[in-house]
Amino acid sequence: MMMLRCAVLAVLTTAAALKTCVIGGSGFIGKAVCKTLAAKGVAVTSVSRSGRPADAEPWMDQVDWVAADAGNDNIAAALDGAGACISCVGGFTGAKASPTGTGDIPVLFASYSPQDQEEYRAKNGPPNEAIAKAAKEAGVGRYVLVGVAADAENGLAGGIPGYFEGKADALDAAVRNFGADAVVVCPHEVVEPGSARIKAVDNPFARFARDANKAIGSVGYRGEDLVTKLSLTPPSSVDDVATVVAAAAASDLDIDVSTRTTRRVLLDTSNGIKTLDESREYNVEARFVDGTDAIKEKASGKVALWNSGV
Ligand SMILES: NC(=O)c1ccc[n+]([C@@H]2O[C@H](COP(=O)([O-])OP(=O)(O)OC[C@H]3O[C@@H](n4cnc5c(N)ncnc54)[C@H](OP(=O)(O)O)[C@@H]3O)[C@@H](O)[C@H]2O)c1
Repeated sequence: MMMLRCAVLAVLTTAAALKTCVIGGSGFIGKAVCKTLAAKGVAVTSVSRSGRPADAEPWMDQVDWVAADAGNDNIAAALDGAGACISCVGGFTGAKASPTGTGDIPVLFASYSPQDQEEYRAKNGPPNEAIAKAAKEAGVGRYVLVGVAADAENGLAGGIPGYFEGKADALDAAVRNFGADAVVVCPHEVVEPGSARIKAVDNPFARFARDANKAIGSVGYRGEDLVTKLSLTPPSSVDDVATVVAAAAASDLDIDVSTRTTRRVLLDTSNGIKTLDESREYNVEARFVDGTDAIKEKASGKVALWNSGV
């Protein structure tokens, strides 16, 4: 009798550990995460304002799609019993990236007004602060936040400070509520697998130019040119990002706590948002998978394991 009770308890505990709540599961990265988790037999609940996406892919029937605004609604019921919560909430202009990257420069310049910065901050900060808090209060054990690469922040913070301000608030909330139980996956740019965008910069010429930029930067006192570095950094495949996020949610990745240093652009928010002519170093200690190379490395190790049935 005692043994039966233990067995039932073990099954229930495993099922609870497997349930995962993905906030923003209907978005570009979120859908790939939900699909990856569902394929691993995880019970997935997605929360987003629009609920179930319009596409009718068969795996979508395995996901419980909840329509709610994580920044304003009570999402406790969706989080109830989840072993992990993943936030894929946030964003920028919504414009699609161009295949080579050059098309994004006008988008950056076109999105600089103080109103735009307010909007980016509102999209990325407050909902993620509410999600981390709600997940902690619901007793969820692990938290995975999709953030943004430190290289992107260092290269672009002056161009879209509101976005990075919101990202920093989301990161602080993850660490404040979950400490070392949080993993922060930080892509540079994310595209469909096999996209022309990856081919445009993941080749020997681009690698040579990237190395040359680094070498030139190491000679002078200024360091490498971050905008050049950024435009030559390959994006991540959305499947790689989803693999790393799903593995982190299952506590299935070895990641140490490290200190991530970025330069934050200081803002004056007294009357709208204004960029001040100074920046400061900003250090955060957390478990990071930061940037394209780290994501690719963690994803390839995980896929090899999963393919071998582990
Ligand atoms: N895509 C990239 O290249 C890239 C690169 C670096 C970092 N990131 C970061 O990765 C995250 C996901 O990006 P993505 O490209 O997948 O964006 P996306 O396609 O716009 O997905 C965002 C998801 O969040 C949901 N959402 C937004 N606000 C919400 C709220 N208040 N309550 C509930 N759900 C909400 C959206 O659904 P509803 O609108 O229906 O609510 C959608 O499902 C973002 O934080 C982004 O900044 C993306």
